[in-house]
Order: sequence, then C-alpha cells, then structure tokens
Amino acid sequence: MDIIHSVADLRERLQREPNNVFVPTMGNLHDGHIQLINIAKPRAACTVVSIFVNRLQFGPREDFDRYPRTFEADCKRLSEASVNVVFAPDEKEIYPEPQTYLVEPSDLQHILEGAARPGHFRGVATVVLKLFSLVMPHSAIFGKKDYQQYIVLRDMVRQFALPIEIIPAETVRAPDGLALSTRNAYLSLEERREAPLLYQVLKKAHGEIMNGARDFQRIELHSMSELADHGWKPDYVAVRRQVDLQPPRQGDRNLVVLAAARLGRTRLIDNVEVNLSH
Ligand code: PAF
Repeated sequence: MDIIHSVADLRERLQREPNNVFVPTMGNLHDGHIQLINIAKPRAACTVVSIFVNRLQFGPREDFDRYPRTFEADCKRLSEASVNVVFAPDEKEIYPEPQTYLVEPSDLQHILEGAARPGHFRGVATVVLKLFSLVMPHSAIFGKKDYQQYIVLRDMVRQFALPIEIIPAETVRAPDGLALSTRNAYLSLEERREAPLLYQVLKKAHGEIMNGARDFQRIELHSMSELADHGWKPDYVAVRRQVDLQPPRQGDRNLVVLAAARLGRTRLIDNVEVNLSH
C-alpha cells in the first residue's frame, strides 16, 4: 500500500495505474468505510482511498477542529483491507490558494441537511470535484447514510458529464441498529444507549407507509414528537422521493424517510428507503 501526501506523487503513481476506483473519506475509519472499500476492490486494479478533513464543508460553529483524526489506525485498517493507494494530503496541498472557484449545487443544497448546514454541500461538491480531477477514477463509492450527499454528487457528475460512475453503498449498522458514523464517538454511554431510537423511529415510519399510510405529514410530525419525548431535538423527519428528495407526488413508489436530530451535543442523521411494489 502506497501512502501519498502530495498531488505530484499521486499523479505520478496513478499514471502507472489509471484503472482505479475511488473511496473519498475524512478518515477515522469504521466498518462502514471498510464496506465501501469492499465494494470498490473488485471493480478496478487499483483502489484509491483519500483521507482529508475538508474545512470547506464545515460551518463556523461545527466540529472541524475536534473531528477525530486517527491517521495511524486508519492506515492499518486500509492496509488490512488491501487498499492500493492512500492519498492523505494536507490543507495546503488541496487548497494551495484560497478556493474561490466553488461548485454550486442545485437548490437541493438548501433543503434538509442543507437547511441546517448552510454551505455544506457546496464544500462537499467542491472538494469531491477537485479530488476527482486529481484521482481521475472511473468509479467512486459513497455511503447511503449520507443520502443527500450521494444525490448531490450523483447529480454533479451527471451535470458536468464526468466520466465517473457513482456507486451507492448500503448503510452499515451496529447490532442495535445505530448507523455507523464517526460522530457516534461523541456520544456519552447513556446517549449511546438512547441512539438506536433514531433508526427505530425511521423503521416505524417505513412500516406505516408499507402498510398503506399516505399522510406523510402526520408520520413526520409523529416521528419528531417521539424523538422529542425521549429528549432529542429533531431537526427534521421527512418523507421524500428518492430521485430528487422532493415531497412525494401521487403514485411515487420509491421514497426515503430521512431524519436528523440532536442527542445532547451530537447531531445524528439516518434514513430508510421505502420501495413500494408496483
Ligand atoms: O462523506 C464524507 O466523508 C465527506 O463528505 C467526503 C465525501 C469525503 C468529502 O469530504
């Protein structure tokens, strides 16, 4: 496994191996990331993983400074997962000058996560476009836990006609249902015990829709009050169309219930797809 820190070395290394698949990360790797790598591995001769905590996608009051950085442990896991190239640039390498050219996603960037985190998807799209132009992969893997991120990036690739296939990966969960996330590490023991409620609420909403419920607003409000009753501060629970994350229209069969809620100081997100039979 080659660990590369500079753009020049990366370009040189990948010139020798242009058939590559890419898994961008911010490090602090858990089993969810390893699953992305396992999906990547059979698709190309060379699997490239980036580790870069991207300041551009964090708001001024968010956790950029305290975001866990665990480079040694990450490299060990990546080597065990038979990754070929780790690209771990520092900020000056990715942003040698202030990044004044930015990728402005569609209005999708302002809803749901975007409403709570202004500028977040602009930062994500900008760094991912930049990483794509450095790595030049034919495919890239993104987890569906960050559902809106996946949709934003899928649309970006389509709109800019990038020759890259975006492959979504299922969310990996702890045995009690909690979606794996770096931010789970911020939870106290008591909060960790409470945390699976988010998935339980989503599964309940999923069950109701599968059983024929169509009053989505009632489901959303009911789910949010269940979280609030248990001491959470929900930002949203929203039933949306998978294709564009807009409110469902009559006859839509492929939906997704998305949620974001604060448990103590930690903001957790999760979602569950609902596929109604035709
Ligand atoms: O999902 C993430 O870890 C980040 O948003 C990404 C895609 C690596 C961009 O910084």
